[in-house]
Amino acid sequence: MQDAYDLVVIGAGPGGYVGAIRAAQLGMRTAIVERDKLGGTCLHYGCIPTKALLQVAEVAELARRAPQLGVRVESVSVDLSAVHRYRERTVSTLHRGVEYLMRKNGIATFAGTARLVSRDRVHVSLNDGSETELRARHVLIATGSRPRSLPWLALDGERVLSSDHLVSLQEVPGKLAVLGAGVIGVEFASAFASLGSQVTVIEILPRALPAEDEEVSAAVEKAFARRGIRVLTSASLKSVERTPTGLQLSVEKDGQVEGVEADRLLVAVGRGPVTDGLGLEEVGVEVDGQGFVRTQGAYRTTAPGIWAIGDVIHAQPMLAHVASEEAVRAVEDMAGHAAAPLDYDAVPRCTYCSPEVASFGLTEAQARERGYEVRVGRFPFSANSKALILGEREGFVKVVADARHGEILGMHLVGPRVTELVPEGILAKSVEATIHEVAAAVHAHPTLAEAVHEAALDALGRVVHL
Ligand code: NAI
Repeated sequence: MQDAYDLVVIGAGPGGYVGAIRAAQLGMRTAIVERDKLGGTCLHYGCIPTKALLQVAEVAELARRAPQLGVRVESVSVDLSAVHRYRERTVSTLHRGVEYLMRKNGIATFAGTARLVSRDRVHVSLNDGSETELRARHVLIATGSRPRSLPWLALDGERVLSSDHLVSLQEVPGKLAVLGAGVIGVEFASAFASLGSQVTVIEILPRALPAEDEEVSAAVEKAFARRGIRVLTSASLKSVERTPTGLQLSVEKDGQVEGVEADRLLVAVGRGPVTDGLGLEEVGVEVDGQGFVRTQGAYRTTAPGIWAIGDVIHAQPMLAHVASEEAVRAVEDMAGHAAAPLDYDAVPRCTYCSPEVASFGLTEAQARERGYEVRVGRFPFSANSKALILGEREGFVKVVADARHGEILGMHLVGPRVTELVPEGILAKSVEATIHEVAAAVHAHPTLAEAVHEAALDALGRVVHL
């Protein structure tokens, strides 16, 4: 049986399903094919369940600190099966929400695996064992990414785990080793340290969160050290041996080899694109050397009629909100609207460790490399009244601006709830406001957002509370 659509979306993560909704809004007859669950990795294995876990970790930490505020708490312990029920409730509520949105927008959903048989035909092996074929005027590839490992280190799902495994682990490991201090590595290190694991992180580059500003990495490493999380930087994992009770890792750092014992090892060394079995080559969709789909303009692939967005097109930045916005632009392009690719310098990056990290744009070093005369403003949360009230005084806001006109080039935040503070900077950047406008805007007192205001004032030599 053949069904004809203006758009067939392959993959229903935050890229695919948002693209499908935008297409429906534009009057396109739309279908979406998903072999797992609507909502994709973000909703079922990534952003949402991990943030639920981090919320548990934060509540546990808060309960431990409660006596300092005069709140008596008898004892703090974590019941992981109750934690998982809370996590599953959160995920299933949002999952039902996405199902509702598909119905509300009249989007046909197909539970199965899609394969391109030509530029305008998509074959679907349905999960119930049957098959169908969809005719498509346009196709959007939104198949996302999956965890990858080192060539010699197989993920066994028991001792050597990806983040997909770790998020639903049934007990808190006594000793957790984490390979890679990127976003996933530091988020899980942070969460499991709060849940009671003894955590060692092994990072091959000289600092944790190497893509962030150097001051951010230093602040996170300091906070982790204070929390008892061991971060071995410039360190390389040489071997992993299974022992009767767990794992014995051998790690080389500064020419010395040291043994690290662990019950479990989380491998968080990046993710790779999901393109196998899609039939890309047959229809002329080119991929790059790493297997990511090549695109140009508003996410057009090398095959006319086929667009691609999200993790499947680039390793950086692999973010849900990036995929969603790319999908909107791709669909608008299909519909004949003027559509341009995203400005990746105005995309927020949020890492939900404790303390949180948020940033966008250029680091100070990158701004200098690009030849800018740089003006930097900083403000520490230790001088912010709301941070004192929260009892979370670590971290700072750092603004990197162009010295001539005050153009905001980047913002780098570490500290309490900073993932909720970064949108101010994003909006400023998007409307081409400068540090002068941020400094002139009235910020409520007492709020954490005052630290953003003060950092802008600092860049202008007018900081107040320092
Ligand atoms: P990543 O690229 O952020 O970090 C990987 C880290 O592993 C890097 O620091 C790298 O230097 C290190 N590494 C690579 N090979 C290594 C080796 N052999 N030994 C030791 N260290 C090694 O990738 P990650 O953390 O796996 O995350 C994947 C993607 O998912 C990222 O693009 C990330 O942005 C995204 N993500 C975003 C989240 C968020 O927005 N909060 C949460 C989780 C993931």
